[in-house]
Parts: sequence; structure tokens; C-alpha cells
Amino acid sequence: MQIPWSIFLYLTIFHLIYIPPRLTVFAGDVKPRTVIVVDQSGHGHFSKLQHAIDSVPEHNYKWIEIQVRAGVYREKVEIPSNKPYISLVGDDRDTTVIQWWDGGGSATPEYATFSVYADNFVARHITFKNSFHPVTISQAPAASIFGDKVAFYDCGFIGVQDTLTDFLGRHLFDGCYIEGYIDFIWGYGQSIYHGCTINVTSGPYNDRIYGAGYITAQGRESIEDTNGFVFKYCKVVGNSYAYLGRPYQTYSRVVFYKNYLSDIVVPQGWNPAFIFGHRGSAAHEEVDCVGPGSDKSQRVKWGRNLNTDELNSLLNPNTFINQDHWIENQPPPTKRRALHKFLTSKTTTRSTTMPEFRQRRTPLSRSFPFVHPRRG
Ligand SMILES: *[C@@H]1O[C@H](CO)[C@@H](O)[C@H](O)[C@H]1NC(C)=O
Repeated sequence: MQIPWSIFLYLTIFHLIYIPPRLTVFAGDVKPRTVIVVDQSGHGHFSKLQHAIDSVPEHNYKWIEIQVRAGVYREKVEIPSNKPYISLVGDDRDTTVIQWWDGGGSATPEYATFSVYADNFVARHITFKNSFHPVTISQAPAASIFGDKVAFYDCGFIGVQDTLTDFLGRHLFDGCYIEGYIDFIWGYGQSIYHGCTINVTSGPYNDRIYGAGYITAQGRESIEDTNGFVFKYCKVVGNSYAYLGRPYQTYSRVVFYKNYLSDIVVPQGWNPAFIFGHRGSAAHEEVDCVGPGSDKSQRVKWGRNLNTDELNSLLNPNTFINQDHWIENQPPPTKRRALHKFLTSKTTTRSTTMPEFRQRRTPLSRSFPFVHPRRG
């Protein structure tokens, strides 16, 4: 087909003068990537994060980095399931904050300020916050994660009840800060929390009325489900008392491995409120923890002990969440981010990569060793 000269000329000139701002191909240190900048002061491609996400093509299959400059973004943000391979990079988790307020009824995960429905997602240096504070404490997640192969590095999650809705899929939370009071790390997720700070605080609510809070509420429903929560080298602090958890479903699995537990952890450790008649099958394990809250002499006697094989398999990221090496294959931030971090270096140690993962990058395998729990 012949293209008329006038149209050809028009297209050529148009493309010479019109360089779409949001699709800047950036040659990163690993592979070419698209970088989208979100900046409230108007120096980026978008001033709202959701608009940047909307601009990602559906069924995206190449990593796209969205850099979110410092600012409090008052938005409810969603990464839909047809937009995988997004890497979200804030300036600093103290200064790049996504904040909304929603909650109250029974549709808990949907109230989240930030929801990830897509597989293959990574976020760094961003805080997600839900500031919904009705008269009585209600479900109000800061983030809900439904996707598989999702990692958060040096991120913050701030809320009161159900703060981090770790709903479904294999996840890594590395060097994160998680603040809440009631069931504030909960869901059917298959996750490792590595080097995180867990801060129990009742926010605007009076903890003398509400009593001790609950850090975890893990929802493994059957013996075949592969999910569970593993906390390695985390620090549990706060200014309200809390149970380490209350198993949310019969076969709940939670492991605290070499954590620092401050004196806010109640001596009983665990609460059976959700599984009262089935206390034998929930596994809650504390291995080599330290600190005044780690004394196990008054811990509850119910619950199933993990055998050595099951425990080792949960503790090893490569057998529990990273069987197909998706973690090594997520992109690090682009050089621009590294330069910024270098210039504003605060000698922080909180942004880390688990030593196990500082390795070669292997091709993705097709295995999917993750069994969806059934939900009634
Ligand atoms: C925990 O949260 C409280 C209340 O927001 C705050 O005062 C305290 O500094 C936090 N602790 C840490 C270790 O961040």
C-alpha cells in the first residue's frame, strides 16, 4: 500500500517533535526498561500514581519502573491483574507516602489504600497508609496483596486493624516497617518477612479498653495449602501489648525465627479466638528468639509442632517462596535511583537484599509451586 507523501511527512515530523513523555526507554544496568516519573510538583510525567499505572499497557510483559518522588499522595491506588511487571520506586519511605482512608464493613481487602492484583510486582522505599479512624476500630488495610511473586523492600505499612492484608500468593517483605494493632498482618499469603520492624500501636484508640492486640492472623485452611507466614530476624516493638497472633484458620502456620521480641508480647503468646474448637492443628513456632518477650515459659500449650523438615522448608526461601527464583529476576531500581540514594545517603541499613538472593539471575521457570487455598 502506498502512503501518500503528505501523510508520510506528517507522521515523520510528528514523531520528531512529539516524543511521548511517559515512554522514555531507559537503558538500566540489567535490561532496557521504561521509566515513568510521578511528581506532585509537576516535574514528572504524572502527578497522580494511579494515572501512571493506568498508562501501563494491559498484559504488559516487560518490567516498567514507576518512580514516585517525595510527597504525600492522597489516592486509593490499584494495580489491576492485567498489569504485571511493574516496579514501584519511592524516594524514601519517610517521604514518599500513599495515603487514603477507607474501611469499616466486611469487604476488608477492598478498603486498602494500595491493592496489588497483578503477579510480578516489586516496590521499594514507599509507605502505604490507611488513616480511616472511625469511633470503634474497624478493618482498614493500608495494602492488600493478591498477586503471586510480589516483593516489598524498605516499605512502610501503617494502619490500625488489618494493616497488611497479605491475602494470596508468594511474597517477600524485606526491611519493611509494619504498624498496627489488631490482626495487622493477616491473610492466606505464603510469605517471608525478613529484617522487618513490627510496631504495635493502637493509634488514636485506647488500648486499655481494647486490650492486647494481635500481630498476625494467618489463614491456612487445609493441610495441603502451601501458605504461611515466616518472620526472620524481625524486631517486634510497640507501645501496646500484643499476642504474636491468633490463627485465623484451622491449619494456620506462623514462624518467628531469631526475632527480637520486646516486653509488649504477652506471656501466653498466642490466642485461639478464631479457631477455638480446633486448637490442635494450628502451628505457631518460635525459634531462637531473643528479648524480654521471648520467654516461652508461660506460652499456651495448644497447637501443632512443626517437624524439622517442615520447619526447614519454611525457613529456606528457596523451598518456601522462591522455588522458581522469581526474586533474583525482579529488577533492582535504575541507576537514577541509586544516584539519588547515594547523594542523600543516610547510612541506612534498612534497605537490604537477603544474602541468599544476591546471586546470579536465572531464567524464569514455569513451575508454579503455589496452591490456592480454598475459601468458603
Ligand atoms: C511505633 O509507633 C509509635 C506511635 O506511632 C511511635 O511513637 C514509635 O516511634 C514507633 N516505633 C518505631 C520503632 O518506629
